[in-house]
Amino acid sequence: MKKLLTLALIVFATCFQARSDEGMWIPLFLGELNEAQMQAMGMKITADDIYSVNHSSLKDAIVIFGGGCTGEVVSDQGLLLTNHHCGFRSIQKHSSIEHDYLTNGFWAKDKSEELTNPGLTVTFLVRMEEVTARVLDSINTDMTEAERKELINSHIKNIKEEATKDTHYKAVVKSFFLGNRYFLFVNEIFEDVRLVGAPPSNIGKFGGDTDNWMWPRHTGDFSIFRIYADKDNNPAKYSEDNVPYQPKKHLSISLDGINEGDFTFIFGYPGSTEEYIPSYAVDMTINTINPIRISLRGKRLDVIKKYMNDSPEIRIQYAAKQAGISNGWKKWIGENRGIKRLHGIEKKQAFEKEFQDWASTSENQKYNSLFSEFKKTYEELNPLQQNLYYLVEGGLGIEIIKYANSFSSLVNISSSNDIDKEKLDKTIELLKKAATSYFKDYQPEIDKEVFAILFKTYYENVNKNEIPEEILKQIDKCNSDFKLFAEEVFKKSMFASKERVIDFLENYKTSHYKKIKKDPAYQIASSLINQYRVNYYPKISKLNNKVDSLMRLYMEAQMEMQPHKLFYPDANFTLRVAYGNTLGYNPADAVTYNYFTTLEGIMEKEDPDIYDYVVEDKLKDLYNNKDYGIYGNNGKMQVCFIANIHTTGGNSGSPVLDANGNLIGINFDRCWEGTMSDIMYDPDQSRNIMLDIRYCLFIIDKFAGAGHLVDEMTIVKAN
Ligand code: ARG
Ligand code: GLU
Repeated sequence: MKKLLTLALIVFATCFQARSDEGMWIPLFLGELNEAQMQAMGMKITADDIYSVNHSSLKDAIVIFGGGCTGEVVSDQGLLLTNHHCGFRSIQKHSSIEHDYLTNGFWAKDKSEELTNPGLTVTFLVRMEEVTARVLDSINTDMTEAERKELINSHIKNIKEEATKDTHYKAVVKSFFLGNRYFLFVNEIFEDVRLVGAPPSNIGKFGGDTDNWMWPRHTGDFSIFRIYADKDNNPAKYSEDNVPYQPKKHLSISLDGINEGDFTFIFGYPGSTEEYIPSYAVDMTINTINPIRISLRGKRLDVIKKYMNDSPEIRIQYAAKQAGISNGWKKWIGENRGIKRLHGIEKKQAFEKEFQDWASTSENQKYNSLFSEFKKTYEELNPLQQNLYYLVEGGLGIEIIKYANSFSSLVNISSSNDIDKEKLDKTIELLKKAATSYFKDYQPEIDKEVFAILFKTYYENVNKNEIPEEILKQIDKCNSDFKLFAEEVFKKSMFASKERVIDFLENYKTSHYKKIKKDPAYQIASSLINQYRVNYYPKISKLNNKVDSLMRLYMEAQMEMQPHKLFYPDANFTLRVAYGNTLGYNPADAVTYNYFTTLEGIMEKEDPDIYDYVVEDKLKDLYNNKDYGIYGNNGKMQVCFIANIHTTGGNSGSPVLDANGNLIGINFDRCWEGTMSDIMYDPDQSRNIMLDIRYCLFIIDKFAGAGHLVDEMTIVKAN
């Protein structure tokens, strides 16, 4: 009996293993490539239910939210769910000390209270189509990379024009498999997207940056928006007359929850991955680029954090900036650890050895010199990237420098022989507007400290002949005292003060461009940009062109060498389906993580003295009374869960669907141990983190008293 049981367990375990799934798949090919496996794993719907152009399918409920997230439609009145961190900037822009929606949350009582967000869009996919043959028509191997690109671009232009003729649609064509295939995406973009609700940050960002990228996680990372359309249900700019959009499809929500091992899938817009790059490229990321980014961002964060802790006003002003800087910083730390732990570079090298043996055979001569060329190219690229990253994360990581640079258009227009008056006036107007929003969230004291630290690091790490003369001159004048250097620049530069900038713009005459050119912050900015333009960009883009052509060939070769392997294309911010099973993991020796968290964990983490771990009385009361309504499960409130689904940045806000295609969660993060999955996925350690939809609805309904929003949704509960 015992033997039988063990055998059964082994069989079970191997099935389980086989289920863990890497890849982000193209919706158009699900039927052909994935449907059978997905159904064998437990899916009860068909590929056609997920993506179809003939009838409404799940894809009609999925949107690109803003520029880099995913969202899903959950009511027939255009109600939209995404992450709190995706709506963060919108929430922050509406926030002030008087109306601190970041800290206190925001809930529109009815549609009239929903807040507009100029510039925020959502994008629906109307259809996609493979256009490889047309894009690559007449392309041949004798062409230079530049000629090739030019011809491809002209083909793409035609395809896009044809696809959108006589419609209000927008088209994009994207490269797949590193330039081996191309797909057209026809999109419909809505421009009136209003904020409906957001939990307080102590729910929506619970655990803050300490918990970011980590499991066990307890973040209620969601916010709610609504899409508005004109009276004919078409996209329109904001207008009072606009009405809630009636979608072709909205997702049904299941309150049944999940068990370990259950099939789930994610439908959204993963941004970018690099699964097929050679070891040289991994080496450059892990050993050159990431250490620079990590070190420079770490220094910036130390300064910002100190000020944010001391002042609620600064906390609001710097919240979004700080979150952005910190997010990348922590991810790259995880990525580096993950690749080292996986021996990722060595693994790639071992494969490359095999590859070289294969490529050396007479029938594969075409690929024989790939690796010697990769080696040469990366050897040249590496030091350039090093300088570039010091420039981008160092010099341009300083707000005043980046801001000063935004005045270069004014300088250019004013110093031209033939001044375009209309353009000039428009530029001044834009700069005035930008000044108001820039200075709303700016503290020169913080920036000055960052300036001193970043320039010191830049100076100490970059070869002196790589530092623009103008900057060396200013540093010399201060005897390499970087605090003094910062003091001087901030004293003299008008870009440190809103009053000075506004005054300057109000009284602007074309000859004043000379004043801008004399401004020390502007001088630093333009010398850095110039350095980039003249010394880095031409060389780097030439080498990147070379990498592109080598990668295209290498991708083709990898597919040819492994004809039985099912390849998925790297993420490129196009709609994908990724699937797997809810599953815990072992992050370290003797440590096992469960696959879900509960409200108990929030109470355990509670610390009234730390902003990110405050738990409000209202939530405590609900917890103490176990007042979970229909959202609880056996007296527990489940908060987040994890699965082995392959996701990346851009998948934030993506719907997590069950075997029936019902919404059970919202994707928002990955576990730290597995963030190297952008380069190398690890079935043991790579896990995505999702918000349980029941916690989301519990917060909306029970915590915020916004049950009218839940009433708008379609809830299914089988059990
Ligand atoms: N790590 C998540 C992502 O990559 C969440 C980021 C926002 N949260 C934060 N604490 N910064 O977008
Ligand atoms: N938070 C990420 C996003 O904004 C998702 C996490 C990831 O990179 O997987 O898209």
